[in-house]
Formats: sequence, structure tokens, C-alpha cells
Amino acid sequence: MSHFSMKNSIHLFDSPQKTAVAVAEFIMVKAIEKTKLNKQLNIGLSGGNTPKLLFELLATQYKTKIPWQTIRIFWVDERCVPVNDSESNYGMTRDTLLNHISIPDENIFRIKGEENPHSEAVNYEKIMRLELPIVNSHPQLDVVLLGMGDDGHTASIFPNQMHLLSVMESVSVTTHPVSGQHRITLTGGAITNAPTVLFLITGKSKSTVWKQMFRQEPESDTFPAYHVHSLNGTALFFLDKEAASEL
Ligand code: 6PG
Repeated sequence: MSHFSMKNSIHLFDSPQKTAVAVAEFIMVKAIEKTKLNKQLNIGLSGGNTPKLLFELLATQYKTKIPWQTIRIFWVDERCVPVNDSESNYGMTRDTLLNHISIPDENIFRIKGEENPHSEAVNYEKIMRLELPIVNSHPQLDVVLLGMGDDGHTASIFPNQMHLLSVMESVSVTTHPVSGQHRITLTGGAITNAPTVLFLITGKSKSTVWKQMFRQEPESDTFPAYHVHSLNGTALFFLDKEAASEL
């Protein structure tokens, strides 16, 4: 797997709000393109705090601008907790986005965090293989939306689990290195199989990791986010000025 590419495309905005608008526009354009071709847009969503603003924006200002019936939603990762737990990525997405838009239920493919993690990882991999084209031995999403942790993790691939970047499975069980919480995550193979891999990164807490990655400092080699990219070897980065403030 190649490292951070000089061909990555980096988009910088004044505020988290403006960054979210740019990502919403990007998703809208992709969805309209697919609708014109009579195809669906298969998108993988991340959880955590950062995408909340994007989801709220999609649920309001983009509620009628986006052809939601074209979009099929998968998850990049899920915490192994019940759906109504405040930690659930699906629960957060349901409350901020899904409950407010007209998207058919059959277009939502959630990872069941309440199930046994190992059997659910196997189950989700089966669902993805059934629903998506198989390319390079992995299911292929069209767009993967990622965040980045202040330790350089992405999806739920943490720095002590670099092997998950190259395992044969597309979906795996993992453990948060600090809390010990079980997670289910797409692996490097499934993520980098997408033609579009888009990182949404906002806030001061991400600035050190971003600087190290951007400058290709030696530490960055231990960051899973540094090794993740799209099928063509590049990634899109949408950042606010706080995240880029150490450059
Ligand atoms: C999750 C994520 C994870 C997230 C980063 C950043 O379930 O936590 O999908 O990869 O994108 O941890 O999280 P924040 O946006 O909360 O900083």
C-alpha cells in the first residue's frame, strides 16, 4: 500500500460549517450523476463527532436537493453497543440524518453493534459482498467518507492494528486501544477499493496529526490514515483551518 500521495487533493475551509457544505455539495453532485445514469450511489459513512454537522446539514439544507432514493448507505465502522446507546454510529446517523430525509429503508445497511461482534463482522461482509460489485476480491463502495482520530486512526483501524490495512477480510472486529470497546470496521482492502475516499477533518485536536501527515514526518508511518487512499492511490481531504493550523 502506498503512502500519502503528493497527488492527494486538499480542500481547506474557514470553518467546520463551510467544510461540511463542501462535502454535502460533493455528495449531491455524485448522487445526481448516478441518478442520471439510472444507477445507485453506494456510500460508506463514518461515525464519531465530526460528521454530525454534515449530517444535520444534509437533513436540512440538502433534504430536497439530494435524490436520496439513489443513495444506499453502508457504514465504515460501528461501535459494539446497542442502537440507542449514545456511542452508536448508526443511532447518531439515524437521529441526525435518516429520520429527517426520504430514503427507503431498503437502502440502509447498518452494522448491528448489538450482535456478537465476530458473527456480525462475518454477516456484514456477506451483506456487502451480496449488495456491491466485487473488485480486487473486496466489495466496492463508490464513496467512503472517513474521519481521522488524533492518534492517526481512521475507520476503527488503530495504530496498533496496522495489519487490518492488508488482511483478506473486508470487515473485521477490532478493539479501541484505550477503552477496550469492541468495534466492527471495514479493513484497508475494502476502503481503498472505492474510487473516492474522502476525509472530513475539522478541529484543533487534529492539527498535529495532520501536520505530521502532510509533511510526511516519520511518525506518520504509524498512522492508519496515512496509508488509506482510493483505488487510484489518492484521497480527498476536506479540512477546516483549525485542523490545518500547525502548517
Ligand atoms: C468512529 C469513527 C472514527 C472517527 C474518528 C474521528 O466510529 O469513531 O468512524 O474513525 O472518524 O475517530 O472521530 P471524531 O470525529 O469523533 O473526532
